[in-house]
Amino acid sequence: QNRTQKSQSPPPKTPTTMVPGMAPKPAPPMPAQPKKPQHMLVLGTGFVGRYVSERLLSQGWRVSGTCTSAAKKMELELLGMTASVLDATTSNIADLHALQDATHLLISIPPIPGVGDPLLSSHADLQTTLTSGNLQWLCYLSSTMNPKSASSKLRYAAEQGWLDLVDELDLSAFILRLGGIYGPGRSALDTIAKRKSSSRRQKLRESKQYTARIHVADIYQAILASMSIKSTRKIYNVVDDDPAPRSEVFAFAQSLIEKRYPDLAADSAESNSQSRIIAAEKRVSNGRLKQELGVRLAHPSYRSGLQSILDSWLEGNQ
Ligand SMILES: NC(=O)c1ccc[n+]([C@@H]2O[C@H](COP(=O)([O-])OP(=O)(O)OC[C@H]3O[C@@H](n4cnc5c(N)ncnc54)[C@H](OP(=O)(O)O)[C@@H]3O)[C@@H](O)[C@H]2O)c1
Repeated sequence: QNRTQKSQSPPPKTPTTMVPGMAPKPAPPMPAQPKKPQHMLVLGTGFVGRYVSERLLSQGWRVSGTCTSAAKKMELELLGMTASVLDATTSNIADLHALQDATHLLISIPPIPGVGDPLLSSHADLQTTLTSGNLQWLCYLSSTMNPKSASSKLRYAAEQGWLDLVDELDLSAFILRLGGIYGPGRSALDTIAKRKSSSRRQKLRESKQYTARIHVADIYQAILASMSIKSTRKIYNVVDDDPAPRSEVFAFAQSLIEKRYPDLAADSAESNSQSRIIAAEKRVSNGRLKQELGVRLAHPSYRSGLQSILDSWLEGNQ
């Protein structure tokens, strides 16, 4: 029987250092490779991009981002980011060094009237760079749309452009259609506190009776949730449960401020004067955000969202 075994498996090679009668020393374990941190690149580190970046940095991510001015670049660097100044209308995005290394890419630069998505003019170079890079996940921040408006057509074309670009790449890709974004530093409360009179653009928006909104914390949640599923072409509405006219949101913000800061509120009643009633629009469903991405909104209504912003003022952690 021994002979048979021998003929089936040759004897193991004896290490030259082996001492007769002693078992060979096992090879020392390889030192554990430190895990390379995930690397997020944010194209357009504005309100949402910055919120997301700050949180990912605190989770140990490496985060790079672009902006359009040297002053903003310095601000981003102070947060711990690797920042670059990029004007997408004049620079080739494919030259951006971080693009080759990034594992995650968040696109937050809006399309430009008459130009379209400024990043997609470098489509071919961009695709080549991404193919040879480390990218696993891409997310384009879009907006809820009324398909007839010119700006929505631009948005839709940008969405399609990004989906075409990722078509041949093996990565997860998401389009998040965001409602009106608010959060600490950008809200009806901030407008009232700064006693800004509404700009003409804001006044025009008052004519839309119902507008879908979303707190930036819930955008962050949706982004994180999308990272945990593998998907190629998924589009989600990212809005809260409570679309409301701008006048209603301002009236609520005003009442919150009146309770806490009576002096501040006295001067700012203008924001509450809108009374035009025009057909409802910009109400979209967030069903798939909840069911497929499993997001439980931190702020299902602007009421809790604004309340939390006011609370953060009092806590001094704005
Ligand atoms: N605001 C809303 O209520 C709302 C609603 C739905 C969707 N969205 C869209 O969602 C995305 C994120 O929103 P947000 O409020 O975070 O946007 P944001 O604060 O306006 O940030 C936009 C970013 O894009 C950069 N950018 C603009 N034009 C550029 C150009 N030509 N080249 C290079 N960079 C350029 C800006 O650079 P700087 O930082 O240097 O200014 C900024 O970092 C945007 O696409 C926005 O249009 C916004």
